Order: sequence, then structure tokens, then C-alpha cells
Amino acid sequence: MDSCAVGRQAQKAPGEQASPTPSESVMKMKQLIDPGTVMVPCPVVLVSVGDKDKANIITLSWAANVCSEPPMIAIGVRTKRHSFELLRHAGDFVVNVPSRTLLKAAVICGTKSGRDVDKFKVCKLTPQPSLKVKSPGIAECPLNIECKTRQIVELGSHHLFIGQVEAVHIDDKVLTAKGEPSAAKMGLFVFLPLTGEYRSLGAQMKP
Ligand SMILES: Cc1cc2nc3c(=O)[nH]c(=O)nc-3n(C[C@H](O)[C@H](O)[C@H](O)COP(=O)(O)O)c2cc1C
Repeated sequence: MDSCAVGRQAQKAPGEQASPTPSESVMKMKQLIDPGTVMVPCPVVLVSVGDKDKANIITLSWAANVCSEPPMIAIGVRTKRHSFELLRHAGDFVVNVPSRTLLKAAVICGTKSGRDVDKFKVCKLTPQPSLKVKSPGIAECPLNIECKTRQIVELGSHHLFIGQVEAVHIDDKVLTAKGEPSAAKMGLFVFLPLTGEYRSLGAQMKP
């Protein structure tokens, strides 16, 4: 905020209307909305956690890369979720990045609880044995990121689980002929908390 603009009075001749300062004009063109989790866009990931025969899946958008060396991912999980206790006990988790074809599964894993249903079965998803952690990944997701929990930070409604990336699996089908990951082949999509929409990624931009 331009602190000089706060309480500033424009100089005006007697009988003349004060014209708004540049910052006042800008403020008039914007509505103030309630503080909230409005940052956009957000990823949609399917986090799998627990023993291989009893593992659960939870859809998360509060998820981000948060450190490069060592590579770390943080996920925010509401304390009342079934997955919350599983995450605390397992000490590890797998962040699975879905493609557009898995949108329905993402919605099911984000609305049903593992207390009531086996989401692997309901969504016809296949547990994939992990290399470095106990929690299995999801075979149908093109990118699986195995994480070991390093820290749990209590924030409020959600706790932040910070995991160190231990192994990454990427499907051959989403690689180019040169063996590089292809965003187009992955069919990525995002969630916009501000508007409640899912959106696929648009065309590549070149600066
Ligand atoms: C797109 C989407 C994103 C979500 N993001 C989060 C999140 O970041 N943290 C969270 O605790 N719940 C999130 N949820 C809600 C949980 O996925 C949902 O409550 C789920 O049913 C919990 O499953 P569980 O009880 O088996 O753990 C999200 C749901 C959707 C559909």
C-alpha cells in the first residue's frame, strides 16, 4: 500500500473539486473481499497414505513445492480428516499428480471419506508399491512423488505436513521422444478456490 496516500488531502483552489489521487482511483476500481484462501491457481493432487492393503487417498489443493535442496513438499490437511491420523501414523505419503482423465476420481477422493469407503476400489485405482516409503502410490497417475514426513506444523484448522522427496516416478507415456516430461501429455489441471472451478492448463507461453 502507498502509505503516503493514506489521509492525503489534494491541494485545491477555493471552490474547486478535489480530483482523486492516482491511488484513490485505483482503490475505487477494486472491491474489498473477505480475507480467505483465495490464492489461485492451486494444484489438485491425490495423496495416498497408509499400509498397502489399508491405504487411503485424499484430494488436496493446499499443496506446494516449498524447498529445493533438499526437495520438500508441504501439504495442508484439516485435523478432522481420516487421512490426518493416517498421515501422523505413517510418517510418509505419496503425492500423486493426476491427469484430466482422473478428474472424477479426484472429486470422489475429495468428497468421500476413507472412514466409509475404500477409495482405491470405488475409483478403480491401483496401489503401486513405493521404492523408499511404505505408503503406496497410485499407478494411474502419471507422476508419483514419494515423501518422508520431516515436520508437522500446527496452523489452525489444518496442520502442515512437510515431506522430503525421496523418489519420483514418471510414466513413460508422458515423456517426449527425447525422454523429457511433456506438460501436454500429462493433461494437467488446476483448482481455483476463488471461483470453485477446475480448469485445464492453456497453451504454452514464451516470454
Ligand atoms: C479439489 C479439492 C481440494 C481439496 N483440498 C483439501 C486440502 O488441501 N486439505 C484438506 O484437508 N482437504 C481438502 N479437500 C477435502 C478432502 O479431500 C475431503 O474432505 C476428503 O473427503 C477427506 O477424505 P478422508 O476423510 O478420507 O481423509 C479437498 C477437496 C477437493 C475436492
